[in-house]
Amino acid sequence: MLTKRVFDYTKDGKTVNCFRITNKGGAYVDVLDYGGIIRSLCVPDRNGNLVDVVIGFDRLSPYLKNRDAYFGAFVGRFANRIQGGCFTLDGISYSLEHNDGDNHLHGGTGSLSERLAIVTEETDNSVTLTWDSPDLDQGYPGHLTVNVEYVFDDKNALSINYTAVSDKDTPFSPTNHSYFNMNGPSRSYIGDNEIKVYADKYLPVDAACIPTGEPATVKGALDLRRWTKLANALKKEETDANLIAGSGIDHNFLVKGYDGETLNRACELYGPETGIRLSVLTDLPGLQVYSGNYIKDGLKGKLGQIYNRRCAVCLETQYYPDSPNHDNWPSPILKAGKQAEYTTVFAFDVPLKAVVLDGYTTNPGDISWEPLYKVCRMDIYDRTAPKDVLRRCAGAEAVFTNKTVLTAEMIEQLDSLRYVGLLSTGANVVDLDALRSAGVALANVPGYSTEDVAQLTFALILELCEKVGLHSDAVHNGEWTDCDDFCFTKAPISELAGRTLGIVGYGAIGSRVCEIAQAFRMKVLVNSRSEKRLPEGVRAVDKKELLKKSDIVTLHAPLTEETRSFIDDDALALMKPGAILINTARGPLLDEAAVARALNSGRLGGCGVDVLSTEPPAEDNPMLTAKNCVITPHIAWAAQAARIRLIEAVAKNAAAFKAGRRLNRLD
Ligand code: BGC
Repeated sequence: MLTKRVFDYTKDGKTVNCFRITNKGGAYVDVLDYGGIIRSLCVPDRNGNLVDVVIGFDRLSPYLKNRDAYFGAFVGRFANRIQGGCFTLDGISYSLEHNDGDNHLHGGTGSLSERLAIVTEETDNSVTLTWDSPDLDQGYPGHLTVNVEYVFDDKNALSINYTAVSDKDTPFSPTNHSYFNMNGPSRSYIGDNEIKVYADKYLPVDAACIPTGEPATVKGALDLRRWTKLANALKKEETDANLIAGSGIDHNFLVKGYDGETLNRACELYGPETGIRLSVLTDLPGLQVYSGNYIKDGLKGKLGQIYNRRCAVCLETQYYPDSPNHDNWPSPILKAGKQAEYTTVFAFDVPLKAVVLDGYTTNPGDISWEPLYKVCRMDIYDRTAPKDVLRRCAGAEAVFTNKTVLTAEMIEQLDSLRYVGLLSTGANVVDLDALRSAGVALANVPGYSTEDVAQLTFALILELCEKVGLHSDAVHNGEWTDCDDFCFTKAPISELAGRTLGIVGYGAIGSRVCEIAQAFRMKVLVNSRSEKRLPEGVRAVDKKELLKKSDIVTLHAPLTEETRSFIDDDALALMKPGAILINTARGPLLDEAAVARALNSGRLGGCGVDVLSTEPPAEDNPMLTAKNCVITPHIAWAAQAARIRLIEAVAKNAAAFKAGRRLNRLD
């Protein structure tokens, strides 16, 4: 719902309106048509109570008096500084106001931040403000028309959409200058807020906050890649060269993933007391983090609140400062007649406090964690040694693990833990009894890798039957070139059609393997814990019969006490001489010493495995040296599509838990 009221009057008697967009949940944002100022942003905390998370005032005069603080304002034409107030464009030099020492800042005095806009569109959940800026306004070339659309949705996300056109090439870098405090701006210090900035690089600056050169890797107080209490970063202000230069944090970070199109997660801010998180998403390349270093102490704000230096932080998405003077940086130049379009989203939620203990194998950097970031406030570790588990999980409500073990003792000590999310199907890395008695939920992801596991099962079967690798190696070694005939074979090749495949375990993967086997015209036998509906021509048999009658045995059962060493000396003795064994399930399903003996004696014709009893395997694992043994390093889930599905499913499980629903729960 959009409502409008008179907020105040300008000095020359013009009305300043306040537009309130209220969403279904009662959360709201107040936007003034003067300077596009966001005056209030009230969103629910963990108890459902509304908290205003921005600084603002009840009258226009404090905004005018503190104009150089740009409280809540839309900033244009160019956010942040331009060195010496000069730049050259299309061969013409332009000179702008020096309103920040020798430099130009935020478009100059009396810029768009300090002007009334025309309201050009109002909808149920949005308001659009438009400014018309004539050629050479504040010294900038081109007649520029800027629209700023504020949309507040029912999920508590405020999207700010900037569009602009100009009749001459001109620099254009819009931002919003809201000062946020996630514990509520009545707080006198931002230090208790926690921040995470998605940037590996930043721009070093001099004491006038002008970039001194090329982007550098974040370090010291500016390395905010993991959740950091702002007080811990700011306490370095007397020792950290960057903070000394910026009089605190006042630096531009290079938003990771910037490509001019994608809305990237640039930054998150979290209030431990309210549980509210702000996620800043943007398609712009830079994020200025400004720790309110110049807010005057004792300012009287809304509802009698008193604001002090560093009581709030600005998270300003924009082009890099001084970029009109750096040709090799993303260009802020809006071409004549073209439309600039930028979006920044300030999304608010109460996330799960979480940690990912071993994210590297799931996502070595080629896919996105975004689905999980939407649900969780988290740090992601590539891998975690047992000795670090407790420290990294301290305070976490949710822990995500793939292969990092959570023992009963660990679970007992993790007081805040409410949820364990597996980045896998198999649940053998957690102590389920301990989780149950601690009342901790457990969810896994069945099915995400069904296609990949079934595919690798046949890759291993085909490798053993067709010997593709052996022949390809021989060809590359010159054996074909030197051959007297048009072809040669290095080892017997066997057909799948007509042979019998014994499938142990008939869940999603087992049944997919069955379908593919039938397409190869194989006969199929199934051994399953429970009764299953089987396709025509497929027979359910007991373990003994399956082992006796199958040419190829493939395992698709979970690891339990019953299935441990499912294939041991006795089982091997039942198998047909020369049969093939495949394991893409869990290593301990095989008694590896027994399997290696059977391979070396020729009793077992071949074995293909993607899993071993310990991973990575010990050097003396007998499988590594056994005859006719094809081994892949646990890759049956590693197809990119499978890993993308996995992260989406992990996020859905966690979102369901948060909403009080059970999804893929094992507890
Ligand atoms: C700048 C600061 C400046 C503040 C208020 C921020 O965007 O980075 O240096 O003091 O705005 O004008």
